[in-house]
Amino acid sequence: MMRSLRDDFPTLRGENPPAYLDSACVTLKPQPVIDAIMDYYTKYPSCGGRSVHRYGTHVSKALSVARNSIKNFICAEHANEVVFTRNTTHAINQIAHGMSWSEGDVVLTTDREHNSNLVPWLQLEQEHGIDHRVVESNEDNSFNMETFEEACADANGRLKMVAMGHVGNLDGVTLPIKDIAKVAHDHGALVAVDGAQSTPHMKVDVQELGIDFLSFSIHKMCGPSGMGGLWGRYDLLDSLRTIQSGGQTVSASSYTKATWAPPPHRFEGGLGHFSGMIGAGAAIDYLSALDMDAVQAHEQKLNAIMTKGVKHLDGVDIIGPQNPTKRSGICSLLMKSVPAHEAALLLDEAAGVMVRSGHHCVHSWFENKGFSEGSLRASAYFYNTEEEAKLFADTLEEIVNTLG
Ligand code: ALA
Repeated sequence: MMRSLRDDFPTLRGENPPAYLDSACVTLKPQPVIDAIMDYYTKYPSCGGRSVHRYGTHVSKALSVARNSIKNFICAEHANEVVFTRNTTHAINQIAHGMSWSEGDVVLTTDREHNSNLVPWLQLEQEHGIDHRVVESNEDNSFNMETFEEACADANGRLKMVAMGHVGNLDGVTLPIKDIAKVAHDHGALVAVDGAQSTPHMKVDVQELGIDFLSFSIHKMCGPSGMGGLWGRYDLLDSLRTIQSGGQTVSASSYTKATWAPPPHRFEGGLGHFSGMIGAGAAIDYLSALDMDAVQAHEQKLNAIMTKGVKHLDGVDIIGPQNPTKRSGICSLLMKSVPAHEAALLLDEAAGVMVRSGHHCVHSWFENKGFSEGSLRASAYFYNTEEEAKLFADTLEEIVNTLG
């Protein structure tokens, strides 16, 4: 299934395509997405939502189609529950800084959050006196429901928000979001899910999960960089303040008063990244044509190959559960004999294998565990092949055996 899709990606065509295993950071872009962006600039490079001439009308219609594609992809109820953002970080900031907080309000996250779902809450703690608490994971980074339930109870009626990553970018571990949402709601809290690493890789249905907000990054979903999205239940979105006021965010204004526009426009201040939004629609249409269960199974199969090839290496430890089926497409390694950055450079130089090294914006976890070097992370997507997964493992083995 996946091999035939490779031709859609210009960087995978030709004689010696790289083994691109850094899709948890940014995915490659298929031709229909590139074409949609090119079409905007070459055929109707103008402003949506304002001008009524032919170009403007074309852009407005294309934006509405794109928003609708996203709505369908995540099973939202209405397209006006979908806000275009720059990325997941922007979406989470819109939630965090758009809500009203009182001193002592409790926010729970896990102990392995990306900075995008940690730092906004730390900022609220510094500036508004909220009480951000961390729910400790099990030793292997899997979720501990008992610890979570205790943390909810410990909040003593002050629990206002449970904000958690659906799938960890550090380790690929998936959280039982549906169960988490039930418990959180029983305690009167809202549930904001960081879907940056789930929406590209599995079927995500916001109704089925029973959550309140979902944030995601379109550049991790075959779409243009600097594009993301925020979904929220309409009544909740309608209760949020915008964090970027100005053009498009009001239905009227006078010298003394702004009358806020309804969602989603209230949150899309200023002239938009129209080519990005249209490209986002094309990316979601591309993903919508795939069987997301098959995508997930394919990534797990590749992770099994990577895991089998590296788990016995001296000075190499896998972060998270040792069972690859519990780490989606992510194989993240603590490198004790060869520094992660050096290994990443050599993987590309020697075999064209592209991975990420460092802290993956999860500094807090590394700091807490005392692993200051970060990790080497390979992350697979539907366009990767079994040969590429094996090439990663074999080349890393060679590097470790030579330099370790
Ligand atoms: N969140 C991105 C990553 O994990 C940047 O690589």
